[in-house]
Amino acid sequence: MPMNQPLLHEDSLDYTPLAHSVTLARRRAARLVGEWGHPDLAGDVAVVVSELMSNALLHGSLHDRLIRARISCGAAALRVEVSDPRGDRLPWPRPAQAADQFGRGLLLVAGLADRWGVEVRGVCKAVYAEWDVSRVTSEPCHGQDSSLHLVVVNSGLRKAKP
Ligand SMILES: Nc1ncnc2c1ncn2[C@@H]1O[C@H](COP(=O)(O)OP(=O)(O)OP(=O)(O)O)[C@@H](O)[C@H]1O
Ligand SMILES: [Mg+2]
Repeated sequence: MPMNQPLLHEDSLDYTPLAHSVTLARRRAARLVGEWGHPDLAGDVAVVVSELMSNALLHGSLHDRLIRARISCGAAALRVEVSDPRGDRLPWPRPAQAADQFGRGLLLVAGLADRWGVEVRGVCKAVYAEWDVSRVTSEPCHGQDSSLHLVVVNSGLRKAKP
């Protein structure tokens, strides 16, 4: 379920819906997670941010709306979320066949994070992934609980500058 705890760190940045934004968000997330004291999670966070940003770009973007990547960390959990302007289209993991070229991104997210889900926020949505940082050192194997959660709240994304 979504993280509900006092935050120690938080970062939020809006990106134009372009391929290079995926790289920028991935690198920023990995760097911040290391700086916040969780370098062991930086690799997994980088992959998850990359998948969520790619999905937002390919499946949830509008040319004149920004995509937001937010990373936050409390004493118990680390969370990344990527918001896009298509609240009417929801992510849905599908079983990928051996020969399928696509359809594995969310499976990766589910395998690397402890939880993931989507929050519909008015016309927008945020897809998030969380890690329980309190048990990182004792349980380095993630993905024990990868069930999908859906929460509806109200928010919005700014319009992209032309
Ligand atoms: N942000 C999103 N907005 C709307 N639909 C999404 C979003 N993310 C995922 N989806 C839907 O969920 C499906 C599964 O996503 P997933 O990332 O697993 O596969 P993919 O993006 O199709 O392929 P791959 O990630 O392997 O390149 C997508 O095909 C898409 O229909
Ligand atoms: Mg994908």
